[in-house]
Amino acid sequence: MGTKYISEAVADAGFLPEKGKIVWESPSNIALIKYWGKYGQQYPENPSLSMSLKKSVSIVELRFRKNTDKKGTVDFKFEGIENQQFKQRVDKYLYQIAGYFPFLKDLYLEINSSNTFPHSSGVASSASFMSALALCICTLEKFTHQTYDSDFYQKASFMARLGSGSASRSVLGKFAAWGKNPGFSGSSDEYAVSFTEFIPENLRIIHDAVIIVNSAPKKVSSSQGHQLMQNHFYKQARIQQANTNIFRLMEAFSSNNWESISDVIENEALSLHALMLSSSPGYILLQQQTIDIIDAIREFRKVSGAQICFTLDAGPNVHVLYTEKAKQQVETFIDKELKPLAENNHIIYDKTGEGPVLKEKF
Ligand code: DP6
Repeated sequence: MGTKYISEAVADAGFLPEKGKIVWESPSNIALIKYWGKYGQQYPENPSLSMSLKKSVSIVELRFRKNTDKKGTVDFKFEGIENQQFKQRVDKYLYQIAGYFPFLKDLYLEINSSNTFPHSSGVASSASFMSALALCICTLEKFTHQTYDSDFYQKASFMARLGSGSASRSVLGKFAAWGKNPGFSGSSDEYAVSFTEFIPENLRIIHDAVIIVNSAPKKVSSSQGHQLMQNHFYKQARIQQANTNIFRLMEAFSSNNWESISDVIENEALSLHALMLSSSPGYILLQQQTIDIIDAIREFRKVSGAQICFTLDAGPNVHVLYTEKAKQQVETFIDKELKPLAENNHIIYDKTGEGPVLKEKF
């Protein structure tokens, strides 16, 4: 795949107008089967599966210009303000993908990004940002095209993966799987593919209420966490577990069995944190309130029978997942029992989204 994209690479920017602007909005996603551990050029050690969010999105505006002394350079702003740390990440990314898009050397790029959700809120901003940026770059290459086909999205997912593994899944709407998985033909380590056809109609909208336990930046980043998997004592067992869990989750979805669905999703969340606890050195991102919230959710499910479960990202905040059918009952429970456990009563209400949207191109 990579070699195909290299051999197809467009050498110079002759096909582009003198200047222009592209804006993509792309969602964050929450993993149900967790990607944890990687190798080589951002290849996953295990397959993962996620749900795209609707309201938690990044908006990336990319302006380009040809005839200027600044060609071959990039300026980056986050919410209108220059951000050096972010710029370094963008520079590194553009350098990494330069072989696929050689025409970028002829352009001066101005990138401005913003999010609809706060930083460190338990919603992954690197996934939404990197997927929106990859979509902008792929759109540059297809600037004269009016519509985008599945090859375009596949390439964008491949490019998003090089920026952040989980970003590969954000390029697709609804439910997406990334990582070669023997039970799922068409799955790939290089890009994500849609998983939506395996989800029964009544579960194609799942609500996600993120209970913010702590909004401070994490002590240990996901990148460090992935690195710690390289020599993890449980590495092989984790790869096996994820492969088994994705298969179990496919079965649970196809039989529309919420008990099994929630069992696998919660097993994945707790296993992710168990891997952090047992890394060398080990670390703890869970907080007391995280555990209190998990206990309350499990107790509520037992007593009410409602279709609810939880998942966790690599942080202390809890994603409460529930079906459309359970919405009213669960939201009353969240308001009464979980909200008091949230930092400043902060909860982000979101749900399954349709995927990225091209907002402007001229
Ligand atoms: C726990 O995709 O943020 O959210 O590839 O280094 O950018 P990089 O890591 P990232 O890792 C996400 C880890 C996770 C699980 C998941 O989203 O599958």
